[in-house]
Amino acid sequence: MTDNSPKGRTDKATMRLGADKAGIARAARLLTDGALVAFPTETVYGLGADARNGGAVAAIYQAKGRPSFNPLIAHVHDRAAADALAALPGPLARIADAFWPGPVTLVASRRDGCGLSSLVTAGLDTVALRVPHGETARTLLREFGGPIAAPSANPSGQISATSADHVLAGLNGKIAAVLDDGPTPVGVESTILGMEGDNVVLLRPGGLTSETIAAITGIHVAARSGSGISAPGQLVSHYAPRVSVRLNAAAPGPDEAWLDFGATTPHGCALDLSPSADLLEAAANLFDYLHRLDAMAAGHGITRLAVAPVPMHGLGLAINDRLSRAAAPRP
Ligand code: TXA
Ligand code: MG
Repeated sequence: MTDNSPKGRTDKATMRLGADKAGIARAARLLTDGALVAFPTETVYGLGADARNGGAVAAIYQAKGRPSFNPLIAHVHDRAAADALAALPGPLARIADAFWPGPVTLVASRRDGCGLSSLVTAGLDTVALRVPHGETARTLLREFGGPIAAPSANPSGQISATSADHVLAGLNGKIAAVLDDGPTPVGVESTILGMEGDNVVLLRPGGLTSETIAAITGIHVAARSGSGISAPGQLVSHYAPRVSVRLNAAAPGPDEAWLDFGATTPHGCALDLSPSADLLEAAANLFDYLHRLDAMAAGHGITRLAVAPVPMHGLGLAINDRLSRAAAPRP
């Protein structure tokens, strides 16, 4: 996908950093500065960004050319860091005790004020947490000192990257750096587990098998029911605000709240995704602003939201994908 916003481009080739002390320290500083850094985990290479920085997380989608906002995994150093972001229910806590660090991701209710960008959770109340194994990932997480959002480090729709060469083949020039620690040992993504009622359910098969989980913890991992949330980004009406949504509006009606793009129309109950029409900024604000406008509309007794047109290029594809889901008929 094409993108014309200057922030979406790095003019320089991507740096290949050695997975030594200096390389990892450099990678941590880049993350702190809001840059994208690919790094090895035991499963695949992740395309990392500071999970608290909406602009940096938006840049992940831009670099991958992902046309929709699926929720991302927040990688943390240890159980304490995970507990700060979400309260793991009993069975998931037992699995964490048994297998973290390791190739299993746990989905649990995120804590209010956890500080994660709402783009990481794609506006959901839950968050996917993972404590990866592997010295390089662990040292990077410790040095950086915060949660790292990271999907697999490949362009959207392409094969996951299990070496720094794979990463560079797909993303050279689009990310600041890749930490090169050779091929990843597991090679498939982590297993993702969540809860449905009292049951632990499999949301994505991966590097840790249900048999191993049962053998070590005695916990039976169930198949999820048809209505599960394994890929919330794929649901037609996924993030539905309470207000009804009217897209591509030239201007808001008198009884509508207004989600603007590019500072054009002054209006009472309104927020602007990006006054300077920057798609990266708009992506970073999207879920927060939908939530906030929903609350503002309720306060004003307004039941409809009009949304200004957002250009259909670059991150605009993902933004429009999400907006059209917000506007879709409710189930
Ligand atoms: O091994 C891995 O897990 C790799 C490495 C880099 O850690 N990461 C990875 O991330 O595979 P990604 O973004 O490609 O996959 C994230 C998956 C998606 O299928 C997404 O739907 C699911 O996690 N997910 C994230 N948050 C979720 C949530 N709150 N509820 C349900 N599923 C969620
Ligand atoms: Mg992937």
